[in-house]
Amino acid sequence: MKILVATEKPFAKVAVEGISKVAEEAGYELALLEKYTSKQQLLDAVADADALIIRSDIVDKEVLDAAKQLKIVVRAGAGYDNIDLEAATEHKVVAMNTPGQNSNAVAELALGLMVYAVRNFYNGTSGTELKGKTLGIHAFGNVGRNVARIAQGFGMKVIAYDAYCPDEAMTAAGVEPVHSAEELYKSADIVSLHIPATAETKGSINYELLQNMPKGGILVNTARKEVINEDELIQFMTERTDFKYVTDIMPASDLKMQELFSGRYFSTPKKMGAQTAEANINAGIAAARQIADYFKTGNTRFKVNK
Ligand code: 3PG
Repeated sequence: MKILVATEKPFAKVAVEGISKVAEEAGYELALLEKYTSKQQLLDAVADADALIIRSDIVDKEVLDAAKQLKIVVRAGAGYDNIDLEAATEHKVVAMNTPGQNSNAVAELALGLMVYAVRNFYNGTSGTELKGKTLGIHAFGNVGRNVARIAQGFGMKVIAYDAYCPDEAMTAAGVEPVHSAEELYKSADIVSLHIPATAETKGSINYELLQNMPKGGILVNTARKEVINEDELIQFMTERTDFKYVTDIMPASDLKMQELFSGRYFSTPKKMGAQTAEANINAGIAAARQIADYFKTGNTRFKVNK
């Protein structure tokens, strides 16, 4: 049995060591493909893999066609929009994620981006504090909950909107539920995005929604770039010179936005929310354990395809 770890953006070394230990204990061979620069390298590497661990690496029909022995692919992380789930099902490949394992890391970065934005990107001028401000959490999943917990430590008022989460789960966490995205954007000084990229959410953060944000509003995106309607964000930011956008997922129009919105736009060069040793260890080892458990007991608890 061979497990391939294919990570264009590698895990921390300690995480790879942990994955390797789990594989060894289970009696499996481990192969590593890191920092690959062409799809062909991935296609070659998957040819004899029984199991695959990935991060944001694309697993589409072509990859699945090439992976003749593949039985399971685990996305070491939360979002699985990089896996063609229908194709996986057609190829009789089980797809899983490792929910919650990297969420604290992403949440800490979201707060870091907020501090960076309210302190004017550390340019030495007088900024504002997070204390006393209202934070709107768009989707109250694993990351959203961690963001709420940390923001409360900063003394922020936290409100959240999530069509799929009961109010009680929010109130139990000291978070005020609101019942529409419009209400969230209207009531928050800062909105932090934690929605997955789905057919329903893609392009949903648009001009009309952003218009609800109060003067001096800040949008923080540690989720996915696809949820933003970029053209409309640019239109909105052109009109609303008080508005800031900080993101961990570089927009397609990054250069244009740097030029147009200097001092109120920032993107990390490469998505780094989950790029911590702790998150890599948690998500990577969980992925390896889920694979061993699936092969040994048939456990499909974290399966995301049909
Ligand atoms: C996730 O969905 O788990 C995060 O976006 C992290 O993605 P990454 O593993 O590519 O850093």
